[in-house]
Amino acid sequence: MAKPTVLVTRPLPEPVTRLLRQHASLTVHRRDAPIPRRRVLEGIREATGLVCMGTDRIDAELLQAGPRLRVVANVAVGYNTVDVAAATSLGIWVTNTPGVLTETTADLAWALLLAVARRIIEGDAFVRSGRWKMWQFQHLLGTDVWGKTLGICGPGRIGQAVARRGRGHGMRILYTGRRRLPGPDEADLGAYFVEKSTLLKEADFVSLHLPLTPETTHYIGARELHRMKPTAFLINTTRGPVVDEKALVKALRGGWIAGAGLDVFEREPAVEPGLLRLRNVVLTPHVGSATAETRTRMALLAAENCVAVLRGERPQTPVNPEITPRPRPPR
Ligand code: GLV
Repeated sequence: MAKPTVLVTRPLPEPVTRLLRQHASLTVHRRDAPIPRRRVLEGIREATGLVCMGTDRIDAELLQAGPRLRVVANVAVGYNTVDVAAATSLGIWVTNTPGVLTETTADLAWALLLAVARRIIEGDAFVRSGRWKMWQFQHLLGTDVWGKTLGICGPGRIGQAVARRGRGHGMRILYTGRRRLPGPDEADLGAYFVEKSTLLKEADFVSLHLPLTPETTHYIGARELHRMKPTAFLINTTRGPVVDEKALVKALRGGWIAGAGLDVFEREPAVEPGLLRLRNVVLTPHVGSATAETRTRMALLAAENCVAVLRGERPQTPVNPEITPRPRPPR
Protein backbone atom coordinates (compact mmCIF):
# COMPACT_ATOMS: atom_id res chain seq x y z
CA MET A 1 0.00 0.00 0.00
CA ALA A 2 1.30 3.48 -0.85
CA LYS A 3 2.50 5.52 2.10
CA PRO A 4 0.33 8.46 3.15
CA THR A 5 1.59 11.94 2.36
CA VAL A 6 2.70 14.44 5.00
CA LEU A 7 3.23 18.11 4.24
CA VAL A 8 5.94 19.77 6.39
CA THR A 9 6.05 23.57 6.28
CA ARG A 10 9.72 24.07 7.31
CA PRO A 11 12.93 22.05 7.08
CA LEU A 12 13.22 20.02 10.30
CA PRO A 13 16.18 18.29 12.01
CA GLU A 14 17.31 15.08 10.30
CA PRO A 15 16.16 12.62 13.04
CA VAL A 16 12.67 14.10 12.80
CA THR A 17 12.50 13.83 9.03
CA ARG A 18 13.82 10.28 9.28
CA LEU A 19 11.04 9.30 11.65
CA LEU A 20 8.40 10.83 9.39
CA ARG A 21 9.87 9.17 6.28
CA GLN A 22 9.49 5.72 7.85
CA HIS A 23 5.73 6.22 7.79
CA ALA A 24 4.99 8.74 5.09
CA SER A 25 6.03 10.23 1.85
CA LEU A 26 7.09 13.79 2.65
CA THR A 27 6.60 17.10 0.93
CA VAL A 28 8.91 19.50 2.76
CA HIS A 29 9.13 23.25 2.28
CA ARG A 30 12.90 23.64 1.86
CA ARG A 31 13.35 27.18 3.18
CA ASP A 32 13.28 28.29 6.80
CA ALA A 33 10.81 31.00 5.80
CA PRO A 34 7.01 31.07 5.60
CA ILE A 35 5.62 28.65 3.04
CA PRO A 36 3.50 30.43 0.40
CA ARG A 37 -0.21 29.94 0.98
CA ARG A 38 -0.78 28.51 -2.51
CA ARG A 39 1.83 25.79 -1.83
CA VAL A 40 0.03 24.70 1.34
CA LEU A 41 -3.32 24.72 -0.47
CA GLU A 42 -1.77 22.60 -3.22
CA GLY A 43 0.01 20.19 -0.86
CA ILE A 44 -2.95 19.77 1.47
CA ARG A 45 -5.04 18.19 -1.32
CA GLU A 46 -3.09 14.93 -1.03
CA ALA A 47 -1.88 15.18 2.57
CA THR A 48 -2.97 12.94 5.42
CA GLY A 49 -0.77 14.87 7.87
CA LEU A 50 0.37 18.47 8.16
CA VAL A 51 3.36 19.34 10.32
CA CYS A 52 3.30 23.12 10.70
CA MET A 53 4.77 25.97 12.72
CA GLY A 54 3.08 28.24 15.26
CA THR A 55 3.31 31.04 12.70
CA ASP A 56 1.40 29.23 9.90
CA ARG A 57 -2.25 30.25 9.62
CA ILE A 58 -4.28 27.05 9.48
CA ASP A 59 -7.82 28.27 8.86
CA ALA A 60 -11.08 26.61 7.82
CA GLU A 61 -10.47 27.20 4.10
CA LEU A 62 -7.18 25.35 4.29
CA LEU A 63 -8.56 22.50 6.40
CA GLN A 64 -11.46 22.06 3.99
CA ALA A 65 -9.03 21.85 1.07
CA GLY A 66 -7.59 18.59 2.49
CA PRO A 67 -10.11 15.76 2.03
CA ARG A 68 -7.65 13.19 3.40
CA LEU A 69 -6.24 15.33 6.20
CA ARG A 70 -6.33 13.62 9.58
CA VAL A 71 -3.83 15.55 11.70
CA VAL A 72 -2.41 19.04 12.06
CA ALA A 73 0.72 18.66 14.19
CA ASN A 74 1.73 22.12 15.32
CA VAL A 75 5.38 22.55 16.30
CA ALA A 76 4.53 25.00 19.10
CA VAL A 77 2.66 24.98 22.36
CA GLY A 78 0.48 27.95 21.32
CA TYR A 79 -2.16 27.09 18.74
CA ASN A 80 -4.00 30.40 18.31
CA THR A 81 -3.18 30.25 14.57
CA VAL A 82 -5.12 27.01 14.06
CA ASP A 83 -8.91 27.01 13.66
CA VAL A 84 -9.38 24.19 16.18
CA ALA A 85 -13.20 24.35 16.01
CA ALA A 86 -13.13 23.84 12.24
CA ALA A 87 -10.62 20.97 12.58
CA THR A 88 -12.74 19.33 15.27
CA SER A 89 -15.89 19.53 13.19
CA LEU A 90 -14.01 17.90 10.29
CA GLY A 91 -12.64 15.14 12.55
CA ILE A 92 -9.03 16.33 12.19
CA TRP A 93 -6.71 16.00 15.18
CA VAL A 94 -4.83 19.14 16.22
CA THR A 95 -1.76 18.61 18.39
CA ASN A 96 0.73 20.95 20.04
CA THR A 97 4.02 20.56 21.94
CA PRO A 98 3.44 21.23 25.64
CA GLY A 99 5.99 20.28 28.28
CA VAL A 100 9.08 20.05 26.08
CA LEU A 101 9.68 23.82 25.93
CA THR A 102 8.65 24.87 29.42
CA GLU A 103 12.05 25.41 31.04
CA THR A 104 13.62 26.87 27.90
CA THR A 105 10.88 29.49 27.55
CA ALA A 106 11.03 30.27 31.27
CA ASP A 107 14.79 30.81 30.87
CA LEU A 108 14.15 33.36 28.13
CA ALA A 109 11.57 35.19 30.25
CA TRP A 110 14.14 35.26 33.02
CA ALA A 111 16.86 36.47 30.68
CA LEU A 112 14.64 39.37 29.54
CA LEU A 113 13.75 40.21 33.12
CA LEU A 114 17.37 40.32 34.24
CA ALA A 115 18.51 42.09 31.08
CA VAL A 116 16.04 44.93 31.40
CA ALA A 117 16.41 45.29 35.19
CA ARG A 118 20.21 45.31 35.05
CA ARG A 119 20.50 47.20 31.74
CA ILE A 120 22.60 44.46 30.15
CA ILE A 121 21.98 45.52 26.54
CA GLU A 122 22.83 49.15 27.26
CA GLY A 123 26.00 48.02 29.04
CA ASP A 124 27.02 45.81 26.12
CA ALA A 125 26.44 48.64 23.61
CA PHE A 126 28.40 51.02 25.82
CA VAL A 127 31.46 48.75 26.04
CA ARG A 128 31.44 48.06 22.29
CA SER A 129 31.12 51.77 21.45
CA GLY A 130 34.53 52.56 22.94
CA ARG A 131 32.95 55.24 25.17
CA TRP A 132 33.99 53.46 28.40
CA LYS A 133 36.78 55.65 29.75
CA MET A 134 36.46 55.17 33.50
CA TRP A 135 34.50 53.33 36.17
CA GLN A 136 31.70 55.48 37.57
CA PHE A 137 29.78 55.09 40.81
CA GLN A 138 26.49 56.31 39.34
CA HIS A 139 26.72 54.77 35.90
CA LEU A 140 24.14 52.34 34.44
CA LEU A 141 22.32 51.93 37.71
CA GLY A 142 19.67 49.26 37.37
CA THR A 143 17.05 47.80 39.65
CA ASP A 144 17.38 44.93 42.13
CA VAL A 145 15.57 41.75 41.22
CA TRP A 146 16.19 39.81 44.42
CA GLY A 147 13.79 40.58 47.23
CA LYS A 148 11.20 42.11 44.89
CA THR A 149 7.68 40.95 44.01
CA LEU A 150 7.13 38.88 40.89
CA GLY A 151 3.61 38.75 39.44
CA ILE A 152 2.78 35.80 37.22
CA CYS A 153 -0.27 36.17 34.96
CA GLY A 154 -1.26 32.67 33.89
CA PRO A 155 0.18 29.99 36.20
CA GLY A 156 0.42 27.23 33.60
CA ARG A 157 3.56 25.19 33.04
CA ILE A 158 5.69 28.11 31.87
CA GLY A 159 4.25 30.54 34.42
CA GLN A 160 5.10 28.11 37.20
CA ALA A 161 8.61 27.58 35.84
CA VAL A 162 9.16 31.36 35.90
CA ALA A 163 7.77 31.48 39.45
CA ARG A 164 10.36 28.86 40.50
CA ARG A 165 13.11 31.04 39.07
CA GLY A 166 11.70 33.98 41.04
CA ARG A 167 11.74 31.91 44.16
CA GLY A 168 15.37 31.05 43.54
CA HIS A 169 16.08 34.78 43.45
CA GLY A 170 14.43 35.33 46.82
CA MET A 171 11.36 37.04 45.39
CA ARG A 172 7.83 37.17 46.74
CA ILE A 173 5.55 35.48 44.20
CA LEU A 174 1.99 36.54 43.35
CA TYR A 175 -0.06 34.96 40.62
CA THR A 176 -3.39 35.48 38.95
CA GLY A 177 -5.38 33.53 36.42
CA ARG A 178 -8.71 31.92 35.78
CA ARG A 179 -8.10 29.18 38.30
CA ARG A 180 -6.35 28.94 41.62
CA LEU A 181 -3.65 26.26 41.81
CA PRO A 182 -4.19 23.31 44.17
CA GLY A 183 -2.87 24.03 47.68
CA PRO A 184 0.20 21.76 47.44
CA ASP A 185 1.29 23.42 44.15
CA GLU A 186 0.88 26.87 45.69
CA ALA A 187 2.89 25.78 48.71
CA ASP A 188 5.56 24.26 46.47
CA LEU A 189 5.94 27.50 44.55
CA GLY A 190 5.50 29.68 47.60
CA ALA A 191 3.02 31.66 45.48
CA TYR A 192 -0.05 33.64 46.54
CA PHE A 193 -3.19 33.88 44.43
CA VAL A 194 -4.47 37.45 44.01
CA GLU A 195 -6.88 39.32 41.75
CA LYS A 196 -5.38 40.79 38.61
CA SER A 197 -5.77 44.37 39.91
CA THR A 198 -3.86 43.53 43.11
CA LEU A 199 -1.08 41.83 41.18
CA LEU A 200 -0.68 44.84 38.88
CA LYS A 201 -0.59 47.19 41.84
CA GLU A 202 1.93 45.20 43.88
CA ALA A 203 4.28 43.47 41.45
CA ASP A 204 7.69 44.88 40.59
CA PHE A 205 7.88 42.52 37.62
CA VAL A 206 4.76 41.35 35.76
CA SER A 207 5.39 38.30 33.58
CA LEU A 208 2.72 37.19 31.08
CA HIS A 209 2.03 33.50 30.46
CA LEU A 210 -1.59 33.41 29.31
CA PRO A 211 -2.45 31.74 26.01
CA LEU A 212 -3.83 34.11 23.35
CA THR A 213 -7.62 33.85 23.14
CA PRO A 214 -10.33 36.43 22.42
CA GLU A 215 -10.54 36.96 26.21
CA THR A 216 -6.81 37.58 26.69
CA THR A 217 -6.38 39.93 23.71
CA HIS A 218 -5.13 43.25 25.17
CA TYR A 219 -5.15 41.73 28.64
CA ILE A 220 -2.61 44.49 29.33
CA GLY A 221 -3.80 47.85 27.99
CA ALA A 222 -3.70 51.48 29.09
CA ARG A 223 -5.84 50.84 32.17
CA GLU A 224 -3.62 47.99 33.39
CA LEU A 225 -0.40 49.86 32.64
CA HIS A 226 -1.67 52.79 34.69
CA ARG A 227 -2.30 50.42 37.59
CA MET A 228 1.30 49.17 37.60
CA LYS A 229 3.99 50.85 39.68
CA PRO A 230 6.13 53.46 37.89
CA THR A 231 9.11 51.34 38.96
CA ALA A 232 7.67 48.08 37.57
CA PHE A 233 8.68 46.07 34.50
CA LEU A 234 6.50 44.08 32.07
CA ILE A 235 7.80 40.83 30.55
CA ASN A 236 5.97 39.19 27.64
CA THR A 237 7.01 35.80 26.26
CA THR A 238 3.55 34.49 25.39
CA ARG A 239 1.82 36.15 22.41
CA GLY A 240 2.08 39.77 21.26
CA PRO A 241 -1.65 40.63 21.13
CA VAL A 242 -1.95 39.92 24.86
CA VAL A 243 -0.48 43.44 25.20
CA ASP A 244 -1.79 46.60 23.54
CA GLU A 245 1.52 47.63 22.01
CA LYS A 246 0.53 51.25 21.32
CA ALA A 247 -0.54 51.69 24.95
CA LEU A 248 2.72 50.08 26.04
CA VAL A 249 4.77 52.61 24.07
CA LYS A 250 2.84 55.43 25.76
CA ALA A 251 3.42 53.84 29.16
CA LEU A 252 7.14 53.43 28.57
CA ARG A 253 7.52 56.95 27.21
CA GLY A 254 5.36 58.49 29.88
CA GLY A 255 7.02 56.75 32.81
CA TRP A 256 3.86 54.88 33.83
CA ILE A 257 6.14 51.84 34.10
CA ALA A 258 9.93 51.53 34.19
CA GLY A 259 10.61 49.13 31.34
CA ALA A 260 9.70 46.00 29.40
CA GLY A 261 11.24 42.81 28.08
CA LEU A 262 9.42 41.56 24.99
CA ASP A 263 9.90 38.42 22.93
CA VAL A 264 6.57 38.65 21.10
CA PHE A 265 4.79 41.46 19.28
CA GLU A 266 1.29 42.32 18.24
CA ARG A 267 1.94 42.22 14.49
CA GLU A 268 5.24 40.33 14.37
CA PRO A 269 7.61 40.42 12.64
CA ALA A 270 6.52 44.09 12.52
CA VAL A 271 7.31 45.96 15.72
CA GLU A 272 5.65 49.16 16.89
CA PRO A 273 8.22 51.78 15.76
CA GLY A 274 8.00 53.60 19.10
CA LEU A 275 9.43 50.55 20.86
CA LEU A 276 12.55 50.56 18.71
CA ARG A 277 13.48 54.03 19.90
CA LEU A 278 13.22 53.30 23.62
CA ARG A 279 16.17 52.37 25.79
CA ASN A 280 14.11 50.90 28.62
CA VAL A 281 13.02 47.90 26.60
CA VAL A 282 14.80 44.70 25.64
CA LEU A 283 13.50 43.09 22.46
CA THR A 284 14.05 39.57 21.12
CA PRO A 285 12.55 38.04 17.94
CA HIS A 286 10.17 35.38 19.32
CA VAL A 287 12.92 33.01 20.46
CA GLY A 288 11.38 31.68 23.69
CA SER A 289 11.87 28.05 22.71
CA ALA A 290 14.87 28.63 20.46
CA THR A 291 17.57 26.29 21.69
CA ALA A 292 18.87 23.47 19.53
CA GLU A 293 17.77 20.87 22.07
CA THR A 294 14.28 22.23 22.59
CA ARG A 295 13.50 22.90 18.93
CA THR A 296 14.49 19.29 18.19
CA ARG A 297 12.30 18.01 21.05
CA MET A 298 9.36 20.06 19.78
CA ALA A 299 9.73 18.83 16.20
CA LEU A 300 10.08 15.22 17.41
CA LEU A 301 6.95 15.43 19.54
CA ALA A 302 5.01 16.91 16.61
CA ALA A 303 6.31 14.16 14.32
CA GLU A 304 5.38 11.47 16.87
CA ASN A 305 1.88 12.93 17.11
CA CYS A 306 1.60 12.88 13.33
CA VAL A 307 2.87 9.30 13.06
CA ALA A 308 0.48 8.10 15.78
CA VAL A 309 -2.48 9.37 13.78
CA LEU A 310 -1.14 7.86 10.54
CA ARG A 311 -1.02 4.53 12.38
CA GLY A 312 -4.61 4.91 13.53
CA GLU A 313 -3.57 5.66 17.12
CA ARG A 314 -4.32 8.54 19.46
CA PRO A 315 -1.70 11.32 19.47
CA GLN A 316 0.16 12.06 22.72
CA THR A 317 -0.71 15.74 23.06
CA PRO A 318 -3.97 16.58 21.29
CA VAL A 319 -5.63 19.94 21.82
CA ASN A 320 -9.00 18.57 20.67
CA PRO A 321 -9.15 15.19 22.44
CA GLU A 322 -12.93 15.16 22.08
CA ILE A 323 -12.94 14.67 18.29
CA THR A 324 -14.50 11.82 16.40
CA PRO A 325 -11.59 11.15 14.07
CA ARG A 326 -12.19 11.19 10.35
CA PRO A 327 -12.13 7.65 8.93
CA ARG A 328 -9.11 6.72 6.82
CA PRO A 329 -9.97 7.37 3.18
CA PRO A 330 -9.68 4.47 0.71
CA ARG A 331 -6.53 4.93 -1.39
C1 GLV B 1 6.09 29.35 20.71
O1 GLV B 1 5.79 30.50 20.66
C2 GLV B 1 5.18 28.29 21.06
O2 GLV B 1 3.98 28.52 21.20
O3 GLV B 1 5.66 27.15 21.17
